[in-house]
Amino acid sequence: MALSVDKTSGGREYKVKDMSQADFGRLEIDLAEVEMPGLMACRTEFGPSQPFKGAKITGSLHMTIQTAVLIETLTALGAEVRWCSCNIFSTQDHAAAVIARDSASVFAWKGETLQEYWWCTEKSLDWGSGGGPDLIVDDGGDVTMLIHEGVKAEEAYEKTGKVPDPTSSDNAEFQIVLTIIKDGLAANPKKYTKMKERLVGVSEETTTGVKRLYQMQANGTLLFPAINVNDSVTKSKGCASALKQAGARVIVTEIDPICALQALMEGLQVLTLEDVLPTADIFVTTTGNKDIIMVDHMKKMKNNAIVCNIGHFDNEIDMLGLENHPGVKRITIKPQTDRWVFPDTKTGIIVLAEGRLMNLGCATGHPSFVMSCSFTNQVIAQLELWKEKSSGKYEKKVYVLPKHLDEKVAALHLGKLGAKLTKLTKDQADYISVPIEGPYKPPHYRSSRVYVIDTQKNPKAPSLYKVVQPEDIIKKTGLAYLHTSHCLASGDIMISCLGDKDGNAEGSGFLLLDSEFNIKGR
Ligand SMILES: NC(=O)c1ccc[n+]([C@@H]2O[C@H](COP(=O)([O-])OP(=O)(O)OC[C@H]3O[C@@H](n4cnc5c(N)ncnc54)[C@H](O)[C@@H]3O)[C@@H](O)[C@H]2O)c1
Repeated sequence: MALSVDKTSGGREYKVKDMSQADFGRLEIDLAEVEMPGLMACRTEFGPSQPFKGAKITGSLHMTIQTAVLIETLTALGAEVRWCSCNIFSTQDHAAAVIARDSASVFAWKGETLQEYWWCTEKSLDWGSGGGPDLIVDDGGDVTMLIHEGVKAEEAYEKTGKVPDPTSSDNAEFQIVLTIIKDGLAANPKKYTKMKERLVGVSEETTTGVKRLYQMQANGTLLFPAINVNDSVTKSKGCASALKQAGARVIVTEIDPICALQALMEGLQVLTLEDVLPTADIFVTTTGNKDIIMVDHMKKMKNNAIVCNIGHFDNEIDMLGLENHPGVKRITIKPQTDRWVFPDTKTGIIVLAEGRLMNLGCATGHPSFVMSCSFTNQVIAQLELWKEKSSGKYEKKVYVLPKHLDEKVAALHLGKLGAKLTKLTKDQADYISVPIEGPYKPPHYRSSRVYVIDTQKNPKAPSLYKVVQPEDIIKKTGLAYLHTSHCLASGDIMISCLGDKDGNAEGSGFLLLDSEFNIKGR
């Protein structure tokens, strides 16, 4: 596509594939709204007071029909919005068209090149001479990362006159990011610094983005407050059980003994990738980690095994290794479905969405109802950040939404499913020490919260959820060293692997602690 900005007759900027699909987009939005009760309830409750009046929101999140309902909720609450997708394949072109026509500036189309993707990302941040956005809705953290890298480059440029060197990275996509920052420096050497100063905060949608935020918090480099929407309990997950329910025999690979135990308890087998290479029909990566399925693995798979990813980026599957494998042949069956044939065996594998999110690249993401829960959390997070913009309540840290708001999101979705809640009596409420109107569970209560025990005392440790220093537990339990941990549905913490103070394993064992780290059992 020629990279130039288009304008509606009313002057709103956009770049989408095909404006003639806007009416089709509107028909689908009308259907989705019925399935998104949380977002529609936000419009009814907050719309009249226009809480986002004056707020400029930039979003980087799959430009689907469900996202269109999120965008129109933000605008119904008074916000001005600019949007791009967070994935080159995930845009539904009719959704982009209708939003560009009716509601917000959109820069997104299905099948962007990486160059185009970053152009769109830059445009979503381009609020003209007034500077950047007030708020960001991010999914995977690309917009947050661009601003952080931009500020870093501008500070270095001011001090030393040095510009970023794209060849300093061997990652093709990061080279593009460094190039756009470098190209912008001479014309506007304070672009990202000004943006950072204006920004009230970001709400982040997914595990990978949240991981990046916690890493920045630990390094002390996070430039603005962040709300982690991913770990709201009402955000749903569960690819393995969905496949099982669809009749598949599901085998899970895991590195974490507790997740492995959970999978086993759900009746799933746990093996290594190597164990199943010759037998599995479909391989789905979803670790948020890199180098999970390498080209040597792919060569050992059965003919036409399907290889795909639903983790965030394209580095779980070794696409580079596959492309560079001598003699390998790529046959495109249809867009986002390629058969790769190995020269020696003449057998092939089928890779979906070029190793990127296949549920958005080859399908249309999660159902509206599922997205309603997580997007309602997004709206509430954005409202909270905007409301507290001058109060100092939120520092340059990562926060999760408080329990009562999570419960509110759940409550907004119950009616649609025909549920009726039981009301506590005053007597019962007193007996279990909770208020009649909630919150009903302690903040740490959720079914799969991970407490990362930072045994290495490494500030860059993957502090996914709550970092617990080993000393705190040692003090309470009298035990020298504890390794991995997991918070159970009850709120108790299960610890595996006991060892000595220097990190030498003493042997495997399980220990059950309550949320205050008191020992409940071994
Ligand atoms: N496609 C989508 O619609 C969608 C939706 C939500 C999340 N995501 C993405 O999916 C990814 C996973 O998210 P999550 O919330 O399930 O994270 P999670 O941390 O709960 O689950 C990932 C699991 O992978 C395991 N793991 C890590 N390295 C491994 C390895 N080498 N081999 C085997 N297992 C390994 C971890 O122990 C963990 O249990 C993230 O990148 C997230 O951004 C995608």
